[in-house]
Amino acid sequence: MMDYQIVCNKVCELARQTGAFIKESQQKSAIDIEIKGDNDFVTQVDKAAEQKIVNGLKELIPESGFIAEEGTSDIKGEVFDWIIDPIDGTTNFIHGLAPYAISIALQEKGELVLGVIYEMGLAECFYAYKGSPAYLNGHEICVSDTKNIKNSLIATGFPYSNYDRLDGFMNSIRYFMEHSRGLRRLGSAATDLAYVACGRFDSFYEYNLKPWDVAAGVFIIKQAGGAVCDFNGGDNFLFGQEIIATNKATFNEFKGIINDIMN
Ligand code: IPD
Ligand code: CA
Ligand code: CA
Repeated sequence: MMDYQIVCNKVCELARQTGAFIKESQQKSAIDIEIKGDNDFVTQVDKAAEQKIVNGLKELIPESGFIAEEGTSDIKGEVFDWIIDPIDGTTNFIHGLAPYAISIALQEKGELVLGVIYEMGLAECFYAYKGSPAYLNGHEICVSDTKNIKNSLIATGFPYSNYDRLDGFMNSIRYFMEHSRGLRRLGSAATDLAYVACGRFDSFYEYNLKPWDVAAGVFIIKQAGGAVCDFNGGDNFLFGQEIIATNKATFNEFKGIINDIMN
């Protein structure tokens, strides 16, 4: 049987090493940018970082498969699959703006068993593994105990493309502007989720996200005592491209609002 703690420590170490490489590349030279789609950028640094992560994880569990944003490997594992975003927040990275983060999750027979998010701006490593609490740089973390939306600080992301749902989304922004403590858009969904896990944000929602944006974050939030669902209150948040993540106390209220406004 796998020792999740040992594997998690090694993944944290790999994320920190790769993070140092990414930060160094940020400071060193002009960044080579390619356009993947509308407002969808990838740099040589994203690709090189993903290669380093995939190599390191292959050494850790040689028979594992990968779902990786930049397509370095798409082998399907029989038991284990890693879900990887080498830089979540590439637009921030290109502009020299924090936050941007590495996100790595592990699935065992389809169940998430480990999540690591390393945010490079503040050198903060958020992580959890099956059976553990959630941690930030070695200290246990948990979601906030805010009781209602009125007292919540809420994070979201603005879609870079796919504007089909923009009317509902703009209505949700208006609603939260009028009925919460405030809204933030940091530009890195993995960081948003990590911040819900440690109680800096009370809740987060976004549509159009991919599995590598959210996999590590949803696992860490659950281990930190929070709750996650899709916009209908269901479980299709990993591949379903819509996610709500909150502390326990505001889950029902938040879910009800999004369900009414966005569906
Ligand atoms: C993006 C970030 C951003 C979110 C976008 C994602 P990327 O990831 O998570 O916060 O709003 O939808 O695509 O492209 O920087 O890895
Ligand atoms: Ca991403
Ligand atoms: Ca990315």
